[in-house]
Amino acid sequence: MTAIGIHDLELSTTHHVLGLTALAEFQGIDPNKYHIGLGQDEISMPAPDEDVVTMGASAALPIIARHGTEGIRTLLFATETGLDQSKAAGVWVHELLDLPSSVRVAEFKQACYAGTAALQAALGIVARNPAERVLIISSDVARYELGSPGEPTQGAGAVAMLVSAEPALVEIEPTSGVYTDDVDDFWRPNDSTTAVVDGRLSVRAYLDAVAGAWDDLAGRGGPDAESLSRMVYHQPFTKMAMKAHQHLTRHTGVDLGEGGLKTGSIYNRRLGNTYTASLYASLASLLDHEDDLAGSRIGMFSYGSGLVSELFTGIVQPGYNGSGRRERTEAMIEARVPLDVDTYRELHSKTLSSLQDVETPRVTKAPFRFAGIKDRARFYQRTGN
Ligand code: COA
Repeated sequence: MTAIGIHDLELSTTHHVLGLTALAEFQGIDPNKYHIGLGQDEISMPAPDEDVVTMGASAALPIIARHGTEGIRTLLFATETGLDQSKAAGVWVHELLDLPSSVRVAEFKQACYAGTAALQAALGIVARNPAERVLIISSDVARYELGSPGEPTQGAGAVAMLVSAEPALVEIEPTSGVYTDDVDDFWRPNDSTTAVVDGRLSVRAYLDAVAGAWDDLAGRGGPDAESLSRMVYHQPFTKMAMKAHQHLTRHTGVDLGEGGLKTGSIYNRRLGNTYTASLYASLASLLDHEDDLAGSRIGMFSYGSGLVSELFTGIVQPGYNGSGRRERTEAMIEARVPLDVDTYRELHSKTLSSLQDVETPRVTKAPFRFAGIKDRARFYQRTGN
């Protein structure tokens, strides 16, 4: 059988950052609740001229530069920060990246799980025709109400992945475990710019899901727990991965060890929650911070509130860590411009209505910007950066 999987992967994030020590001090609480209790250090925060389209296009740009567009007939955009009820955000990316008109575009939605739904669809497309390659973009802005328990777990970022036959990074194995249940732990009604969340319920639902997905994987003849060299998890906050890993260890009865939790959360601690991109940011973090993973099996757990989850596995390919992504990602994270808490709160409270034409201020240094709204439609520009 042809090996299919992730051939290349790139991250992007926002212009701004908020440090969680500053937020805790503003709130009059111990910063260790965030740094140790939640395992989060910073929140990426978009400038007024950034959104999921500009982050997604910025993540995909270097992938297209490295591999060209040949064989790409599908762009799948995963997000729970939907910009339009009808148009897929990926269509704007298609235009910004100047992709051929022979590339189909669609948007996937199921909370933070949607990137994995896109990955599964991409694997199917490439299995049908191994000459095709699929571009996946997972891009999100995690926004909770000011003062809510979710506030320190905000964040923003995008991951672009190229899925192909004979992948250079990670071959995805065919068996996966799925667990779906109708739970009201987190959702965002159409008339709300922030998520409605029952945080405690979402933690319990996540743990039930990891056990349920494991049982489905095991029941379908998936790999033994002993063969898992590392695990990466969807990380609404990095401590959640630790809770899930302990739960999976208890559930399988197998000592899964440290499992790469530390190396797999270095980016996530600094980006905050990136919803659909979070699991793949964790995968990038793991691959970028460990040198001897070639041939290893990695377990990947994807969770989307509401809920749909999936546990699947991949084999790391030889030469996986030679792309310089770690240096690029660190430079991008370091380059973010810090916000003070007052400016962050001001930015947070600003929302746009499609009823008013607007031109956004020029702030971002990314290659693309959200330029504004005209006649109820969003428009974007290349910045020349
Ligand atoms: N130093 C170190 N740790 C501290 C601390 C301190 N000063 N103060 C509190 N903590 C620890 C707590 O013991 C707790 O650890 P534990 O989970 O291992 O028991 C952790 O910090 C969080 O404290 P808690 O009181 O539970 O936080 P909270 O109720 O304010 O918020 C969530 C936690 C998860 C409910 C909240 O962040 C949230 O709603 N997040 C959004 C939803 C989400 O991400 N869900 C996850 C599944 S998708």
